[in-house]
Amino acid sequence: MADSNGLLAGKTGVISGALDPDSIAWALAEAAHREGARFVLTNAPVARRFGRLDELAEATGGSPVVYADATSDDELEDLFGQATDALGGPLDFVVHSIGMGMNVRKGRPYEDLKYEWYQKSLDISAVSLHRMVRAALAKDALADGGSVLAMSYIGAQRVFSEYSEMGDAKALLESIVRSFGYRLGRRGIRINAVSQSPTKTTAGGGIQGFDAMFDFAEKVAPLGNADQASCADYCVTLLSDYTRMVTMQTLYHDGGFSAMGISDALIEGMYGDVLGGDDA
Ligand code: NAI
Repeated sequence: MADSNGLLAGKTGVISGALDPDSIAWALAEAAHREGARFVLTNAPVARRFGRLDELAEATGGSPVVYADATSDDELEDLFGQATDALGGPLDFVVHSIGMGMNVRKGRPYEDLKYEWYQKSLDISAVSLHRMVRAALAKDALADGGSVLAMSYIGAQRVFSEYSEMGDAKALLESIVRSFGYRLGRRGIRINAVSQSPTKTTAGGGIQGFDAMFDFAEKVAPLGNADQASCADYCVTLLSDYTRMVTMQTLYHDGGFSAMGISDALIEGMYGDVLGGDDA
């Protein structure tokens, strides 16, 4: 883990989506704590049973925990009400790190999506970002000059065959980032999506063929796949004042994957050592 640079000293926020130590948001919360932030941790009520949020709360200096379903406007308003009370006023940052593909999880192919599940996937994975920002604004819980961050994947732009409905969800998520970014800009609030490498987490593991996506990206990306800790370090810069003029972007944190076509490692993986040595 990086040393503290006090990047978030004095800042307050809400961090969603930490379920267990593999979660991207778990690493992010640890990094934000290291950099001096105070925050409320939140997750779906069901995570009370499956998650380990209390451990993270303790490890980050006694962070308050508020359970809220990100598809419920009432619960989100209650979350932001409680967060501003606990942290003493409007927040400097909000992290959305939430995703769930119902059809993907249940192995239902894209050609035959169950639409009820599809809607739920879009609601949990994308519309919830809109709901979170709307609820924060409704409760006057976002400070001028604040930063909102959401986690995305390159499946928003390109087809990764097994990513299925989640590609649609991430495309919507990234569009919400732009649409809200325009409106939030009037108050100096910025909002960005971080498009992260395949990462071994509970949500990642729910995608069939995840290991292939992970190994493929590892072979293609010049720096290899980015892990949770490096993602967290990048994210804290986006919550800090150093990135105050960056908004409405999808920012790739993927070891260079998104700029690549074919790599030697990929060719060698498919055909063996046909290239006769490597001068890169
Ligand atoms: P994770 O499973 O640790 O986190 C997903 C979180 O969403 C969980 O904490 C879960 O409880 C929460 N959640 C699900 N339904 C919810 C609801 N209705 N209300 C509130 N919270 C709810 O997995 P991970 O990978 O850390 O996912 C975090 C974000 O990163 C997601 O947006 C995911 O799509 C994104 N991402 C993940 C990648 C990966 O390969 N793991 C790659 C790129 C982006």
